[in-house]
Amino acid sequence: MIESQRHLFDTPDDVAFFNAGYMSPLPKASAAAGEAALRRKSTPWVLTPEDFFTETNMFRSLAAQLIEADTNDIAIIPSASYGLAIAAKNIPLQSGAEILVLTDQFPSNIYCWQRVALEKGAVIKTVPVPKNRDWTDAVLSAITNNTAVAALPHNHWADGGLLDLIRIREALDTVGAKLVLDTTQSLGAMPLSVKKVRPDFLVAAAYKWLMCPYSTGFMYVAPEFQNGTPIEENWLNRKGSEDFAGLVNYQEDYQPGAIRFDMGERANFGLVPAAIASLQQLLDWGVENIQETLKKRNSEIMNALSDTDITAIPDQLRAGHFLGLEYEAGFPDDILGRLAAQKIYVSKRGNSLRITPHLYNNNQDFERLTEALKQILT
Ligand SMILES: Cc1ncc(COP(=O)(O)O)c(C=O)c1O
Repeated sequence: MIESQRHLFDTPDDVAFFNAGYMSPLPKASAAAGEAALRRKSTPWVLTPEDFFTETNMFRSLAAQLIEADTNDIAIIPSASYGLAIAAKNIPLQSGAEILVLTDQFPSNIYCWQRVALEKGAVIKTVPVPKNRDWTDAVLSAITNNTAVAALPHNHWADGGLLDLIRIREALDTVGAKLVLDTTQSLGAMPLSVKKVRPDFLVAAAYKWLMCPYSTGFMYVAPEFQNGTPIEENWLNRKGSEDFAGLVNYQEDYQPGAIRFDMGERANFGLVPAAIASLQQLLDWGVENIQETLKKRNSEIMNALSDTDITAIPDQLRAGHFLGLEYEAGFPDDILGRLAAQKIYVSKRGNSLRITPHLYNNNQDFERLTEALKQILT
């Protein structure tokens, strides 16, 4: 259990921000690193060709550590949808092949599959919301010999419903299907090892649970797909690009591993140093410790609300960092505004009131949230 880390953030005392699932604040150290980094563009003579590689490789290596991957298995991407477009382009699909997705899954992991389904005659199969709230069972029951890809999250973005990716991977193996993961709503807050889960592609936009700036992210590509086709042909990704004087000696070969999939201008001098500081901070805290702490915090919220009619998916079927509150009578339409008037920030996704705390929250925040909810609902 990690103590509140409020002192590392610029969150005023009277703000209770429970919206990491929307956009986490940058830690102070990351903001300072980003400000200093951006200022370098005022004096571009300080930036050397080497700088185009060293910082991004540092980011790549920290990202790899988070998921137990090799540094060269990581590509740098600006958004989840960018990485998912690469996955959709590179997985071979026959006509009639099924692509499994969850009901109400986040659109970045839907639209790319709709496009390839149209192009290749594949079929999107949507796993229905399980009555017993167990997404793992629901996905396992939906896998058939026609399944070619499961394009899934680690937990549902609306209510935190959890998927056991190891069991799902094993079931996909039996029918030779691929696994593509959008971990934007989990990576950084919930442990995931690519050694254990063995995804074919895994993407994460980094501005939520990874506490990085907007427009940063990364993708893991399994070795089987590292000879694939990128969605843009950036010069930095080609072999020998370190030699700026020789760039017009056009190269057929790419840099090793997943680097061929890096976004253009990945050497983003303003944002990458801030992202590095954030990933270092997460690794210092330890993702398992973050998960345990947030899980405990969320179960304390449920305890404090036990005298109300508010419910949530039970702990064992829900990601610990996520709480999707449900209220049979329906939350009032103006609930977000009434909470925001007290500087308490949460989200509404579908029927869930989505509470996504982080280590910047303190006891006062939790008390204010539960008291305000009780007051609004009575
Ligand atoms: C599950 C999930 N994936 C991806 C994103 C962001 O997508 P993109 O990076 O494509 O803008 C979000 C944002 O809310 C999300 O919840």
